[in-house]
Amino acid sequence: MKLMEPIQIKGMRIKNRVGLAPLLNMPAGEDGFINDQTIRWFEARAEGQTGLVMTGTIGASRPRITVQQQSLLGFRGIGLYDDRFIPGFSRLAEAIHRHGSCLGVQMGIIGGVMGGRGPSPPPYPDERHPTEDLFYAVAGRRMPHLEVTIEDIEQSQGDTTAAAARARTAGVDCVLLHCSHGGATGGCSFISPFYNRRTDRYGGNWENRLRHLVETIHKMRKAVGDDYPILVRICADQLLGKRGITLEDTTRIIVPALEEAGVDGFDVSQGDMIRATEGITIPMYYPRGLFIHLAAAVKKVTRLPVIGVGNIFDLDMAERFLQQGKADIIYLGRQLCADPETPKKYFQRRPEDIRKCIGDLGGCGNPCTVNYDIQENPIPLVPAEKPKRVLVIGGGIAGMEAARVAAMRGHRVTLTEKQPHLGGMVAALALNPLTAEFGNIVEYLTTQMGKLGVDVRVCRDIKAAEVAGMAPDVVILAAGSSATVPEIARDKVDVMMHEEASRHPKAIGQRVVVWGVFGVELAIALAEQGKEAVLLARGGEGSLGSDLSMARRWWLLRKLTDLNLPRETPQAARVRNPEVLYDVEVEEITPDEVRVKLAGDERNRRAIPYDTIILSRRFGERRANDHLFAELERIVPEVYKIGDCAQVRGIQEAIFSANEVARRI
Ligand SMILES: Cc1cc2nc3c(=O)[nH]c(=O)nc-3n(C[C@H](O)[C@H](O)[C@H](O)COP(=O)(O)O)c2cc1C
Repeated sequence: MKLMEPIQIKGMRIKNRVGLAPLLNMPAGEDGFINDQTIRWFEARAEGQTGLVMTGTIGASRPRITVQQQSLLGFRGIGLYDDRFIPGFSRLAEAIHRHGSCLGVQMGIIGGVMGGRGPSPPPYPDERHPTEDLFYAVAGRRMPHLEVTIEDIEQSQGDTTAAAARARTAGVDCVLLHCSHGGATGGCSFISPFYNRRTDRYGGNWENRLRHLVETIHKMRKAVGDDYPILVRICADQLLGKRGITLEDTTRIIVPALEEAGVDGFDVSQGDMIRATEGITIPMYYPRGLFIHLAAAVKKVTRLPVIGVGNIFDLDMAERFLQQGKADIIYLGRQLCADPETPKKYFQRRPEDIRKCIGDLGGCGNPCTVNYDIQENPIPLVPAEKPKRVLVIGGGIAGMEAARVAAMRGHRVTLTEKQPHLGGMVAALALNPLTAEFGNIVEYLTTQMGKLGVDVRVCRDIKAAEVAGMAPDVVILAAGSSATVPEIARDKVDVMMHEEASRHPKAIGQRVVVWGVFGVELAIALAEQGKEAVLLARGGEGSLGSDLSMARRWWLLRKLTDLNLPRETPQAARVRNPEVLYDVEVEEITPDEVRVKLAGDERNRRAIPYDTIILSRRFGERRANDHLFAELERIVPEVYKIGDCAQVRGIQEAIFSANEVARRI
């Protein structure tokens, strides 16, 4: 197996070909110091047999913003801009080395647009990207574009060099210079013709635009010595067409120039933090391994090792890419959040035990939607003091997770489910091609039911009397939730519930009205299939996907405007979008039309012809199926509610609430 082969990069010998991709969401203490939680977080990956553990971007320069402002921006960075940070990195390196793995530290060159100081004036107003506005609308803030002075450049080079030297002193095995993701980093902003409009020696032609990076590498080399690996993360395609960095620029100019400057390997990413985030926060709509062709192209023009990355959730795919010579090392980012033991289980030939990432961008490390253990203070998973008979009612995600954890602790678990299949609402959503990755968690938990000997009984709509007959010690009620149906839609035969529509796509007619913003992905998928889809939102644009994570919402908004993108990727070629009507009040449903009033305006009404209406209710418009609870409390010693049954929320809350109960009983 190629994945298990060691690889030597200068003085660093990595024991296998699996790396942790840099993720900013790493835990850290106050003021950016590495704390016990940071060590635990990274060490879990080394324990899980990841050969190269890379940190997310650390602060090589003293932050210009306070810790409070950083956390407002969504992260608490780790610093390396002072010698006081060295002991923390030494502890981290020791922890990683204990498992025979290597530690790398990613550092950015300051000056990125996102960092608040761009290399040049802002892009021209006519180049304002339609999605930029959406990004700012969702993020709720606008980043300033400021000119970087020559003093700033010199300071940045000095800071990055000093931080690299500190990393070496601390026992870190390599450094990774972050020069990717367009406006996210100074390294990339300087190289990119899209951002860099300078007229001095750091702007203009390629040589000038690369100067900041090349000078930084020369200085770092002097500081860390010849045998110390300096890797560089490049943006092989900025996804802005010819106005940004193209793959041709990368293979013809950038890679040879950086090789000449003395780097020791390339980590190949893509995209732009503000305009095309397909390399950074990749939504689940994109195929697995979507930009490995970029690593493959870089490999053709260099003899240095190349790291490939991007939506790689399974190691069969990673192994295939290595065998095909597309990369020398494969990074997993979000997958190692979902399951830090991914390589270990794979090497032990237990792939069915790997909990795959679902790609919903719900935390990605701090926390993670499907991995309860990754958070700061999880309840430990320990054997039960006294094995009990546990009955879980409901075989959705929450019920199965509770059954899994309880069975792992030694309880005797029975799980009943009303439907003929397991997975509940999440399994239904996974039938939509856009959200098919949800199927990963359903598949994992279903497999674990069998492996852990949970007694699963489907097609069982269990009643209290039957529960009494079974005499369990504990009942965990996980019967999910149901959408409340607005008065106006009651008794209308053509109204389908979202779950029902997902399960029976053939029953959906050509003209579809999706009523409710929870259904935005469904509406997009139906439009992509060629249906005439109209999405009715009761609120404004901000209400779209308002129950979802910021990154997922941002992708939804972008998908609805994708046609205007100046990007040149096949994935961007979308043909149809649903029509979205905002501020809608449904006034009447006739056998052929949905009659609506728009924006509360008496004169602004529309009649929308339909074949099918799909009711897709937000969390707040669903009701817990907990009617058994009170009765069970009278007949069973311990009764708990979890998942939607406790409070209607998302997958993460379902998984977490299941653990909080199943780890305590
Ligand atoms: C939450 C999050 C934080 C990230 N932070 C960084 C970062 O600090 N530096 C970086 O180069 N890339 C960052 N990335 C991009 C990842 O390194 C990686 O390229 C991306 O997640 C794709 O890999 P994956 O599909 O295996 O997760 C981040 C991605 C996510 C989702």
